[in-house]
Amino acid sequence: MNLVKNKTLILGGNSYIGTHLFEHFNSDYAIRTYHSKPVENGIYFNTLSMNLSKILKDINNISHAVILLGDTNPESCAEDIEKSNRLNIESIKSIIDDLNEYGVKPIFTSSDIVFDGKKGNYDEEDPVSPILTYGKQKVEIERYMQKMCDDFIITRISKVFGSQIGDKTLFTNWLDDISGNKEIYCAHDHRSNPIYIKDVVNSIAGLINSDCSGIFHLSGKKAYSRLELFEMLLDHTKKYLPVKVNVIKCSIHDIPLREKRPLNISMKSDKLTDTIGIKLHDTNDICKNIVKEYIKVKSK
Ligand SMILES: NC(=O)c1ccc[n+]([C@@H]2O[C@H](COP(=O)([O-])OP(=O)(O)OC[C@H]3O[C@@H](n4cnc5c(N)ncnc54)[C@H](OP(=O)(O)O)[C@@H]3O)[C@@H](O)[C@H]2O)c1
Repeated sequence: MNLVKNKTLILGGNSYIGTHLFEHFNSDYAIRTYHSKPVENGIYFNTLSMNLSKILKDINNISHAVILLGDTNPESCAEDIEKSNRLNIESIKSIIDDLNEYGVKPIFTSSDIVFDGKKGNYDEEDPVSPILTYGKQKVEIERYMQKMCDDFIITRISKVFGSQIGDKTLFTNWLDDISGNKEIYCAHDHRSNPIYIKDVVNSIAGLINSDCSGIFHLSGKKAYSRLELFEMLLDHTKKYLPVKVNVIKCSIHDIPLREKRPLNISMKSDKLTDTIGIKLHDTNDICKNIVKEYIKVKSK
């Protein structure tokens, strides 16, 4: 039987990005795995104790696999390096080996943290130079993939934000902190270009549908410091109500973190937009809509 390979396997299908990616594809075109938090029609997969081949041998219409699982918190990666290496390096290498064996094209979700932040505005040709444990783990997998796979996609993703109240991403989190009168630390010297979750999903889907290969930066159109992003949110909020905020303007180096953070990890997304023709959302427009929706819901 000549079976058409038209499904995408989402490894870490209940992750923040995975949940949205699965919604985009729906169950006709995607299969998803979960680990500790079950999801409807999800396949249980613990990458630390299972081989992916166990799953792959039973499903043979998969063309691509998006690797989203792992320890995604730079702080916990640095807290126990051996433990996070097991999950973020060893287990992912084994997943890549299994995908190779079954002829499934891997898509690895890397990060802007692969750069040291000295230059900013990085493109795909710039050499990587990670300074955080989490970034070094990402680079090790990027290199492994380039060495071991004939065909692959590496997406380096900037900080992802959503627009759903309570989703605990950049703007919605700040709005919750403002209404809870919490202290908010905002770095004036940490720059990146956050990307809207819908743009991440459409980019990954676009790269799959156009059968692209190689490294792509998935980042918002414009770079901002954390402080600029917070001020953007504040300006929109003040249009609706007077706001009293407990903001502490600081350097990223003043925030007590386990490892020294890179400063300017902004990236260019021209290769992505030129290749798949995606029009990325404007962060300011999305921020404005988030505030409008937040005020509407909270005033009910
Ligand atoms: N979110 C961002 O801003 C951002 C930015 C740049 C790059 N990325 C990259 O994009 C990917 C997804 O990020 P995310 O924020 O969406 O992830 P996330 O919400 O933190 O989810 C992490 C995923 O890892 C799974 N997982 C943890 N331990 C596992 C194990 N032992 N076996 C199998 N699965 C396990 C979790 O499953 P359970 O919950 O079921 O345990 C969950 O699905 C990651 O590679 C991340 O580095 C994310």
